[in-house]
Amino acid sequence: MMGRGIKGRIRRAGIGDADDIAHVINESNYHAYKDVIPKGFFKHPVVSRDEVLEDMRRMEFYVYEVRGEIVGVAALHPRYSEGVGVVRWVYVHPRYQRRGIGTALMRRIEERARELGLRRLRLVTHGEAYWAIRFYEKLGFKIVGYVERAAWRDVLMEKSI
Ligand SMILES: CC(C)(COP(=O)(O)OP(=O)(O)OC[C@H]1O[C@@H](n2cnc3c(N)ncnc32)[C@H](O)[C@@H]1OP(=O)(O)O)[C@@H](O)C(=O)NCCC(=O)NCCS
Repeated sequence: MMGRGIKGRIRRAGIGDADDIAHVINESNYHAYKDVIPKGFFKHPVVSRDEVLEDMRRMEFYVYEVRGEIVGVAALHPRYSEGVGVVRWVYVHPRYQRRGIGTALMRRIEERARELGLRRLRLVTHGEAYWAIRFYEKLGFKIVGYVERAAWRDVLMEKSI
């Protein structure tokens, strides 16, 4: 799989990748949300290696590598009873954004969800993260609801697959 103007590949991540995955998520989250999430609510780092490892027990993580370095991540949490795949931890390192890497990761997640027999993808993102909402809309997701948080509103998005 190729991102625009960049050579890389996607692979399923293992426990040995937890550190690098946490690093990409934390860099990307800081860059994107430090001026969006109100002070006092903003968390940096947003995730630890151990939390990634914990999530790996329930979710499949995929990573995008460029020259052996992890620069993007996305996770799929299957909920078989509902036929839904929840998409989590979609993050591309700030230096590698807008080159199609996020799109490539989402396509792999969708392909995998179909393979697992899931019929819908679902995700939650920050209501003011216009870039993320735009990104998911371009991939066919639609806003299906809102979730009130302590100091902002999250957007619930879904896509039939
Ligand atoms: C959202 C994110 C994963 C997208 O990854 P990416 O590799 O940059 O995305 P792509 O290059 O595949 O972009 C595909 C399309 O999404 C939209 N998009 C992506 N980033 C955008 C931005 N910053 N502003 C506006 N639109 C954007 C564009 O329509 C883009 O197509 P274009 O470049 O041809 O205009 C990445 O910006 C990111 O990691 N952001 C910070 C973390 C985050 O908000 N994650 C999602 C919610 S948890």
